[in-house]
Amino acid sequence: MKRVRKAIIPAAGLGTRFLPVTKAMPKEMLPIVDKPTIQYIVEEAIDSGIEDIIIVTGKGKRAIEDHFDHNYELEDNLMKKGKFELLEKTKQSSKVTLHYIRQKEPLGLGHAVWCARKFIGEEPFAVLLGDDIVQAEKPCLKQLIDHYEETGGSVIGVQQVPYDQTHRYGIVDPNEQKGNSYSVNQFVEKPEAGTAPSNLAIMGRYVLSPKIFPYLEDQELGAGGEVQLTDAIQRLNETQSVFAYDFEGKRYDVGEKIGFIQTTIEFALENEEIGPDVQAIITKLAEDLKQKQN
Ligand code: UTP
Repeated sequence: MKRVRKAIIPAAGLGTRFLPVTKAMPKEMLPIVDKPTIQYIVEEAIDSGIEDIIIVTGKGKRAIEDHFDHNYELEDNLMKKGKFELLEKTKQSSKVTLHYIRQKEPLGLGHAVWCARKFIGEEPFAVLLGDDIVQAEKPCLKQLIDHYEETGGSVIGVQQVPYDQTHRYGIVDPNEQKGNSYSVNQFVEKPEAGTAPSNLAIMGRYVLSPKIFPYLEDQELGAGGEVQLTDAIQRLNETQSVFAYDFEGKRYDVGEKIGFIQTTIEFALENEEIGPDVQAIITKLAEDLKQKQN
């Protein structure tokens, strides 16, 4: 069985839910405390054993490439000032090689993945969405890769969501369950409210067979008039088993405002440097609010 060595991070979307900030700034570069979202995702890929990452970018996404590049001027400045701790923070891991490809038009997640087909070739590969962070003891992607190595089939990361939220996600119609793993009857992209076959929602982490590419190539437009990755996965599942894996860990949707704010607060509270001060601010705010209500 071939090892999973390569990953795609699609980051070419328009980020309309964050306008106006995303007019000139990629949403994947929005910081959670002091690190851009996409860096958390790259770190998860590295911790899962990925060696090569291709980031799918688009118009206005230059900052992503700059972020992962050397900044000699800054490094020199920090070195001369003896700010070695900060210098370390600006350096990128040498454990992974980053590559870039442009999606000329944001035609959907499925199309973004298809854009990286030549880089992937005939190997199994991972996909990590550029706006989903997962905190877990064992990295989420590593959990999926381990499951792929046990079964040999493509694996889609899922978690349970409240039923009134299912219309926002790709949803799995599960068949047989073994521990955290499900064989799947069907994958449905954004089912209409009240029609979801389960509350197992696709969460932005995938290990896929390269056999997905021919399906993406001729995939008709789906929900939202976009090429949907879920629709191609459904077709793949008709010819070879695709598993849904209910991974351990907390997933943060940083691609929408409330998720972004919640993630920022939780990560700030956990941060060694500022955590206690943030806790004090929140406690004070809660007291003020209580007083106002009385
Ligand atoms: P989203 O649908 O969450 O991102 O796609 P979006 O389209 O940028 O956001 P809104 O809805 O306009 O606010 C999930 C991930 O897939 C990437 C996005 O960059 C994001 O990281 N994506 C989406 C692409 O790379 N290309 C696309 O055509 C669409």
